[in-house]
Amino acid sequence: MESGIAIRETKFAGVFSDSQRIYTRNLTPGIRVYGERLIRINNEEYREWVASRSKLAAYLKLGGTFFPFERTTRVLYLGAASGTTASHVSDIVTEGKVYCVEISPRSFRDLLFVCSSRKNMIPLLADASKPENYVTMIDRVDIVYQDIAQRKQTLIFVKNMRAFNAKAGMIAIKARSEDVTRNPKEIYSESIRKLESEGYEVADVIALDPIEKDHAMIAVKGK
Ligand SMILES: C[S@@+](CC[C@H](N)C(=O)[O-])C[C@H]1O[C@@H](n2cnc3c(N)ncnc32)[C@H](O)[C@@H]1O
Repeated sequence: MESGIAIRETKFAGVFSDSQRIYTRNLTPGIRVYGERLIRINNEEYREWVASRSKLAAYLKLGGTFFPFERTTRVLYLGAASGTTASHVSDIVTEGKVYCVEISPRSFRDLLFVCSSRKNMIPLLADASKPENYVTMIDRVDIVYQDIAQRKQTLIFVKNMRAFNAKAGMIAIKARSEDVTRNPKEIYSESIRKLESEGYEVADVIALDPIEKDHAMIAVKGK
């Protein structure tokens, strides 16, 4: 545990910075999720949010401007894996919820462990391409956040945005999951066109290279 570092809240509520690294306030003091650094300042504990481990942190580090997470936000998180990024979102939406959808039973076991100590994280072993299978288990969400490395990512995102009538969303596009032979920029443009044709306003697009090669984060506002 380190101390003596000066940090301040950034323009994004719940995200802190010491000018080099970013942090969230640990909802479960003393507990690390992925080996991240913990620091203690004025009786509060903060967890480093490591950009090379989290595309949402990479997005912020690279100048992302759209950040729809607030204290009471309810988030549908698709592709939660073992809960690395979802746990930081859980630190931010302290009075909201993070519904964590994950398809892999192996990752889900680790996710269950993280959710067991976090009152606002709810694990769902499900396929994000079939929101009809979990829509009745969730009463309302504000934001859809998606990070699934598989084909038809944009289509799956749109299906979920629609199923939950979400007011905003963020999708981390992995170009190589769509087509390894195509230029990633073409794949991002195609995704943007699809989102716009579905009536969503694209609020921000940030390529995540070099932190995450051939990935981009696209943020949209709902209809
Ligand atoms: C890149 S990892 C996610 C990392 C995680 N978002 C983080 O930052 O901590 C992608 C995850 O999406 C999951 N996934 C892929 N297709 C999925 C689907 N159709 N439904 C739910 N999860 C899916 C994979 O099993 C994998 O755990």
